[in-house]
This record gives sequence, C-alpha cells and structure tokens, in this order.
Amino acid sequence: MTLPSRVRIVEVGPRDGLQNEPVLVPTAVKVGLIERLLAAGLTSIEGGSFVSARWVPQMADTAAVMARLPPNPAGRYTVLVPNLKGFEAARAAGAGEVAIFASASEAFSQANINCSIAESLARFAPVAAAARAAGIGLRGYVSCVLGCPYEGAVAPQAVASVARRLVEIGCREVSLGDTIGAGAPDQARACVETVAALVPPERLALHFHDTRGLALANIRACLDLGVSVVDAAVAGLGGCPYAAGATGNVATEGVVADLARLGIATGVDPARLAEAGRFVTEALAQARADADRPASTA
Ligand code: HMG
Ligand code: MG
Repeated sequence: MTLPSRVRIVEVGPRDGLQNEPVLVPTAVKVGLIERLLAAGLTSIEGGSFVSARWVPQMADTAAVMARLPPNPAGRYTVLVPNLKGFEAARAAGAGEVAIFASASEAFSQANINCSIAESLARFAPVAAAARAAGIGLRGYVSCVLGCPYEGAVAPQAVASVARRLVEIGCREVSLGDTIGAGAPDQARACVETVAALVPPERLALHFHDTRGLALANIRACLDLGVSVVDAAVAGLGGCPYAAGATGNVATEGVVADLARLGIATGVDPARLAEAGRFVTEALAQARADADRPASTA
C-alpha cells in the first residue's frame, strides 16, 4: 500500500497532555490553548474528559472549558467518557464526539478504570447506544497496545480483539495507544497489521506516546498500512496518571513537520501551531512557578 496523501491529526494535548500536570491548569489557559489550536488548523480536538474528579483532578473543569469554546464547524470537540454518567455530562456540555477507553491489558484496565476489560466493554455498550441515539460521534481507544506498565508484553491478538469489539459496539474509529511509549517500529507495524485483519485500517488511529523518542518512527512504520489518522499533543505534552513513567504524546509539531517532508498534507499551519505550543508551555511554567511560591504571610 502507498502512503496516504492526507493525514488527519487528532490533537489530544488539552486532554492527554494536561491530565497529568502536577499543578492545576487554569480553565482560561485550556480555553486559550484550544483557541490557538483551532487557529492553527486543527479541527479534531480532545477538549477534556468527564471522569471521576477524584481520579483525575486536572479534568474536573471540562464542562467549564467546553462552555467557553468557540464553535468548531469544520471538526469536532471530543471528550473522554468512562461510563453513562460521563456520557450524560458530555451531552450536556455539547460535545460532538465522546471517546470510550478500553485496554488490551487486564492490569492496566484495573488501574485506569477500576474494572476488567470485559466489564469495561459491557459498560461501554450502553454509552455507545446512547451516543448513537443522541447523534453524537463515538471514538474508541485501546491502551497498552505495545506494552503494559504492569504486565509487560501485550499480544497483538489481544489488541485486535478489543479493537474489533469497540467497532462492533459502534466506534467509528479506534485509536491504538502505546500508552507508555514502549514500542519500536517493527512491533508497531506488526500490531497494526494484526489489528487490520479484524478492523479496516481506515478506521484505525495511531496514538503513540514518546517515552523513548520512537513515536515518530513508529508512526512512519505504520503509514503505508492504510491508516491516516494520528493522535498527537502540541509541545509533546502529557502522560497518563495510571502509567508511571509514561511521558507525553508524540509532539504535534514533529508529526506535522515529518508528514510534510513525506509530502503528506495535514492542513496545519506550523507557525500558528508553534504559537499554541509557546502559549501552553509558558502558561504551564507560570502555573508551576505560582504553585512553588511560598504563600504570602502579609
Ligand atoms: P470507580 O471508583 O470504580 O467508580 O471509578 P464508581 O462508579 O464507584 O464511582 C466512584 C465515584 O466517582 C463516585 O463519586 C461517582 O459518582 C464518581 P463519589 O460517590 O465517590 O463522590 N464518578 C464520576 N464522576 C464524574 N464523571 C464520571 C464518573 N463516574 C463515576 N464519569 C471510574 C471508575 C471509571 C469512574 C474511574 O476509574 C475514573 O474516572 N477513571 C478515569 C481514569 C482516567 O481518566 N485515566 C486517564 C485517561 S485514559 C488515558 O490517558 C489513555 C489514553 O490516552 C490512550 C493511551 O494513551 O493508551 C486514552
Ligand atoms: Mg494517551
């Protein structure tokens, strides 16, 4: 198969990028970041998640973020939801798409969403039905596709069967997460090939974290397999609170530049994207400095 002529980037920085920040990021910063990402030409943007605030405090203001976002007529704002409670919050917030998130590893499923893989899939089925009834898009994630922080190696066949189940319950797209950036190019390719035997590659997305600096190479290794959606986070922000040591997603800036070198269009303006990256890194530096400053005694 040949390389795609165009790749759609799903910008996950405002969610995956910020969910693990040690200091609370002001709502205005999240909104300002998303406005700049839109201005850079990104249209598929993950705005946050409706999960337990006890589990992931950084995403507790997702409703407030969504309420302040400009319209996104050319694309959609996606939010993560683990259950019907999250779905109802997403619907009330006007999300265009919800993303359900499963794992190919039992231990990670327990750590991340406090249930087994089978329980999670059973819990997602009514979410999928509700999304369909409400005309809201449905995306799925499979985590730990190239390795698990608790179990180590993960069989591609396990990834494929969870991905297929997500499609069966109604996901239009399934994103394959190398949650801890454990994979290498040959392994990424073998995994996508195995999954593509059960799920058409046009319905797959690559969601690679960059812990060992291999995410771009891993993406390249899969691009001629019929996949044309890549998840990325501006400035390489991110990590997962339930995967110790996992660093950020592959940087959107790197993906846009690498794809341009291959002659693949993304519709993203690199200069405006760089401005979004500067904005969020300066805001995070400020938030961290504010958190470090001793409380005033005046
Ligand atoms: P639980 O404790 O088993 O659930 O957590 P529960 O049903 O017993 O509820 C516990 C409390 O959470 C209750 O509140 C519920 O109301 C509340 P309390 O009575 O204690 O005050 N609750 C909720 N609150 C808000 N929104 C909700 C919601 N549901 C329950 N939707 C649960 C189970 C799934 C809720 C929890 O484990 C959770 O929120 N996990 C989310 C973890 C998470 O967000 N992880 C990061 C995202 S995944 C990721 O980063 C990977 C990805 O990027 C791909 C990759 O890289 O691989 C997508
Ligand atoms: Mg992730």
